[in-house]
Amino acid sequence: MLEVKDVVAGYGATIAVQGISLSVPQGSCAALVGPNGHGKTTLLRAISGLVRTRSGSITFDGEDITRSTVEKIVERGLIHMPQGDLVFPDMTVEENLTLGAFTKAAAQGAKTRMGEVFEIFPRLLERRTQRARTLSGGERRMLAIGRGLMGDARFIMIDEPSLGLAPVIVDEVYRQIRRIADSGMTVLLVEENVNRAASLADVIHLVENGEIVRSGSGEELLADRAIRETYLGVAE
Ligand SMILES: Nc1ncnc2c1ncn2[C@@H]1O[C@H](COP(=O)(O)OP(=O)(O)OP(=O)(O)O)[C@@H](O)[C@H]1O
Ligand SMILES: [Mg+2]
Repeated sequence: MLEVKDVVAGYGATIAVQGISLSVPQGSCAALVGPNGHGKTTLLRAISGLVRTRSGSITFDGEDITRSTVEKIVERGLIHMPQGDLVFPDMTVEENLTLGAFTKAAAQGAKTRMGEVFEIFPRLLERRTQRARTLSGGERRMLAIGRGLMGDARFIMIDEPSLGLAPVIVDEVYRQIRRIADSGMTVLLVEENVNRAASLADVIHLVENGEIVRSGSGEELLADRAIRETYLGVAE
């Protein structure tokens, strides 16, 4: 269970996250939805220790991780799959996956876990000796998610898995994320498209100007005309 309380975070004079609180119960899937540049990625970075939390607190499974290092946080099984596909282009699929198991504990179980990743993403198995730069955009996205799973994850944060992909590929990636979520993994997702978020998440948090302005199930939020107009651009 992740508990974020009044978190403020930013870069220099820019305060991108202006006091966000949210909790993600174990085994659930939550999504952050909001316009570009409103602090979603920064919140994930604050949780994973990549950006310093200026005030507020973050606890993971009852432990205060607000000031923990990135390595310590990863060791606890809280894995951040960053926006954009940060894979190593000149390394093979297999090598990229192996790099995901960089902690001692993860390295021990790497072989088994790679088998599990290949079960979720059979395309990666077919292409395991191929260099990452020769993968399609969708396959690279799968590799980025698969590499995160190699880290002995108990809680995954996926930043915009649908970014820049054709709708049919997004469907496929989402099917696999659903499978991961159904396996009992706790998931915090950033998604631009509220319909997509609603298809997966138990709870959606709408983020605007570094704050959560509304939370609810997809059904609740989509029933609201103002939200449909703002987030889906549908005028009624
Ligand atoms: N490394 C950085 N240095 C300075 N400012 C940054 C940095 N990263 C992000 N920002 C600023 O912080 C604010 C929030 O950015 P963030 O990346 O969290 O938004 P986002 O909601 O994830 O947007 P998007 O949907 O486009 O990914 C923006 O104004 C952005 O310009
Ligand atoms: Mg972002």
